[in-house]
Amino acid sequence: MRGKFIAFEGCEGAGKSTQMRLLSEYLQKKGIKHIVTREPGGSEISEAIRKVILNGKFSQMSDECEALLYAAARAQHLSDTVQPALERGELVLCDRYVFSSYAYQGFGRGLDIKFLKNINEYAVQHFMPDVTLFLNIPPRLAFERKHGADENDRIEQAGEAFHRRVYEGYLQLLQEYPEEIVPVDCSGSKFETSAKIVSLLQGRDIIA
Ligand code: TYD
Repeated sequence: MRGKFIAFEGCEGAGKSTQMRLLSEYLQKKGIKHIVTREPGGSEISEAIRKVILNGKFSQMSDECEALLYAAARAQHLSDTVQPALERGELVLCDRYVFSSYAYQGFGRGLDIKFLKNINEYAVQHFMPDVTLFLNIPPRLAFERKHGADENDRIEQAGEAFHRRVYEGYLQLLQEYPEEIVPVDCSGSKFETSAKIVSLLQGRDIIA
């Protein structure tokens, strides 16, 4: 049986990596086969594209180039890593997917959302996760938790107003895609959030 595809979304420092690690530990204990992967990256070519996109030296990169590189990395990652795992019947935990492009390049950078939908639909051929979990925590709080932005990361350096727009963008996407995106309240401890994620996935028959 084909595996299920779970994408994690949220602002910088929302705790995606921690939650993915806790979920992975839970799945391991239950003997549920899965992979943990990320965007941009998750395959040899996509990791190489990631280095170009996030390189702090490339401050001249145009927003259009950035959007196309994310979509290019996504297309390659999907065929190299995500689809083969799903075909093996494994669960895929993916750090970010198309909604990151809508939130960051659309709401953050201000690119036309129609252009972003076109390039991303082309990149993924309408292939969407079974569920997208949005770790809901405002960027100011999230940056406090991670003790500020990484100075070598081009996107983290984009400034507070940018990250605010990204967060507002996610909230709008939640309204627009109520079936696809599920918000997860992250105000409690990381273990409370993890338990919420497990029961949410059980409720949707994504895990037993
Ligand atoms: P990463 O260090 O993985 O950040 P995080 O741990 O917060 O996910 O770098 C990914 C960065 O790329 C992050 O700042 C969000 C950004 N991004 C986009 O702007 N658009 C996209 O489509 C994707 C997948 C990521």
